[in-house]
Amino acid sequence: MERRKFLGWVSVGMLASSLPVAIAACSSNGSTPNNSTPISDAAPEIDSTPDAEGFVAVGTNQELEDKGYIYEKQLGVIVVSNSGQLAALNPKCTHQGCDVEWKGDSGALVCPCHGSKFGVDGGVIAGPAQKPLPVYDFKQEGDLIKVKVA
Ligand code: FES
Repeated sequence: MERRKFLGWVSVGMLASSLPVAIAACSSNGSTPNNSTPISDAAPEIDSTPDAEGFVAVGTNQELEDKGYIYEKQLGVIVVSNSGQLAALNPKCTHQGCDVEWKGDSGALVCPCHGSKFGVDGGVIAGPAQKPLPVYDFKQEGDLIKVKVA
């Protein structure tokens, strides 16, 4: 074998054997992306059967304390806690129907679509929405927060 061909094959061999090491060195920590602990945002299982007065459990006091709000999409309810004051509202923005988000640091419900802002009483703080968010009756029963949607 000619010297030039021999050196060519040695170079290819070295490159092939060092490639996996180079790839491993380039990864952040050598771990797979799926080895982290999943964080569940799911609410604990609660009985959502309406009681005799029509109140439905939407979450627990612990959940409200942990997150500052409970969002129950199927029922169309958001319960927020603002400095200990609770409120249950319909989260559909009265401008064009996007779901508002609770911004606990500003004590307001803010629409991500066009920026309308509502207070915990549902009143409009900033437009373009003109009408307030509907508010619902609610009650705390044991550890549960129940809302009457109707
Ligand atoms: S849909 Fe909420 S501001 Fe437009």
